Amino acid sequence: MTELAIIGGSGLTELEGLKITNRQVLKTPYGETSSPIIHGVYGDKSIVFLARHGIRHTIPPHKINYQANIWALKHIGVKAVLSIAAVGSIHPDMQPGDLVIPHQLIDYTWGREHTFFAEDLGHVTHIDFTKPYCEELRNILISAAKQVDFEVFSHSVYGVTQGPRLETSAEIDRMEQDGCDIVGMTGMPEAALAKEVDLCYAACAVVANEAAGRGNEQISMAEIEENLTDGINYVRQLLVKIIQELD
Ligand code: HPA
Repeated sequence: MTELAIIGGSGLTELEGLKITNRQVLKTPYGETSSPIIHGVYGDKSIVFLARHGIRHTIPPHKINYQANIWALKHIGVKAVLSIAAVGSIHPDMQPGDLVIPHQLIDYTWGREHTFFAEDLGHVTHIDFTKPYCEELRNILISAAKQVDFEVFSHSVYGVTQGPRLETSAEIDRMEQDGCDIVGMTGMPEAALAKEVDLCYAACAVVANEAAGRGNEQISMAEIEENLTDGINYVRQLLVKIIQELD
């Protein structure tokens, strides 16, 4: 059975090197997934891949159907989900092109469909979200990261904003005071939904830019895209090691 799913974010709408065996369009009770679920073989492992923003990168963070995506992956029998996401860096050590594996998050999003536990409940359900990321998968990522020769941070707090606009510098100052090291727009409710259905979920973030007020006066899409190209190349190298570690 295919046990690992990769949800690709900005810069990773397809997985080079994946030998595709099937493209599955799944109807879910929550509507359409962001993209068909791509089944394939990567290295010597069967995995599935989903493009979070759609195959042509047309779905903005606040319009992503996180419920459909997570429900679909659970439904087809996936056990672990690795999320790849572009972020801005708040912590000065984290620079564009670096990879960051968060251990915690703070949710600043609003108005997103964020739970499976809202209707038709036998009783009210609260999941434990003390540790939002799956330690087992995080440890695999950290161990894979030790085998590569580029910078991977294994400890960071991911602040998740609503977007699609980037933040003001005052918002980033506040997030820094809150303890955030990186800022992105797609980490929630994805992580919580995965936890609700008992998927082992971890993330690898790619620093695309320094957050507002931290680097260049203005953040351009060109800068983000250029840094993402480098970062995603590192992600591909890390993925090869992660897949080997999966045994
Ligand atoms: N802020 C929020 N999300 C992001 C950023 C940012 O600076 N860069 C990439 N995704």
